[in-house]
Amino acid sequence: MLRNALLYLSSQPRVFNFVRHNGMAKSFAGRFVAGETLDTALAAVKQLNAKGITASLDLLGESVHNEAEARESARHYIDILDRIRENGLDANVSVKLTAMGLDLSEDVCVANMQDILERAREYDTFVRLDMEGSDYTQKTLDLFYERLYPSFRGNVGIVLQSYLYRTQADVEQANTAGARVRICKGAYKEPGTVAFPDKKDVDEAYVRAMHCLMIDGHYPGIATHDEAIVRDAKQFARENSIANDRFEFQMLYGVRRDLQEQLVREGYRMRVYVPFGTQWYPYLMRRLAERPANMAFITGNVLKEMVGRRRQ
Ligand code: FDA
Repeated sequence: MLRNALLYLSSQPRVFNFVRHNGMAKSFAGRFVAGETLDTALAAVKQLNAKGITASLDLLGESVHNEAEARESARHYIDILDRIRENGLDANVSVKLTAMGLDLSEDVCVANMQDILERAREYDTFVRLDMEGSDYTQKTLDLFYERLYPSFRGNVGIVLQSYLYRTQADVEQANTAGARVRICKGAYKEPGTVAFPDKKDVDEAYVRAMHCLMIDGHYPGIATHDEAIVRDAKQFARENSIANDRFEFQMLYGVRRDLQEQLVREGYRMRVYVPFGTQWYPYLMRRLAERPANMAFITGNVLKEMVGRRRQ
């Protein structure tokens, strides 16, 4: 119920306009978002790298309204790749196709992605296509397999979400194609016609997909904070003699830092997804929806603020 309400609020721009100027919400966002500028994000990546953690930078800004905005987003990503390189950081980027103009025109989106991927190839780095709501799943995969992957095999990969019924088939397709996959549970509000309503089924599907990717896939990204699944991945790797450099764990900025650091100490590869930018509100709401306990943090701060005001 609360999850649905938070996911609904994540798509309300008026609420964002209100929240954006609220100091308390901004400081809460700082826990999950590495600031509003590229400089703050690069500083966060530097700190992660110092701990042996790699990163994937995500410029928050989920939909664009015209070709010029889509072009501008692509330019920002090229700038991010340049700055990662100039600063000698160990990081790649994650991109949403809607930010590249997918809703406007597939050709515009492909042209923007090709520019980013050309630069990624020049630097021998990697671009992950984030996966959005289920309305975009097929479009994203078609565009990936038909228009990007054939020319940029080593530089681009996809994300699959275990909450979708279709995902096991998508994992097999990716393995056959040799495509790099990040497997996650899925963060959007989806109907029971396309996604498992029960978390238990999502978790089981995750483990099935993860095993297939670890055995037959190409350097999968195991994106989860679920300790039981992380334990399973480690055991599965041991039992199947899968070396630590054949996969990487991935977690979100600000979530389970203890587990991130522990995995590095144990000799596993760990990448942290580092979102930044002014459009942090929908991202923040999805993080709240995943763990409504985070609401306690907000509520606590609201109370503190109210008590503070009364005393003043
Ligand atoms: P689950 O939700 O079961 O949480 C397991 C445990 O992790 C919780 O009990 C809690 O301890 C901790 N935890 C999880 N979320 C937390 C939070 N927000 N705050 C504090 N603790 C938390 N989704 C998508 O649809 N498309 C995408 O492209 C991506 N990309 C992506 C990249 C990376 C690197 C990660 C880690 C995740 C994504 N996701 C995503 C989000 C993903 O689909 C999912 O919503 C979250 O990772 C939460 O699911 P968990 O697997 O962590 O399990």
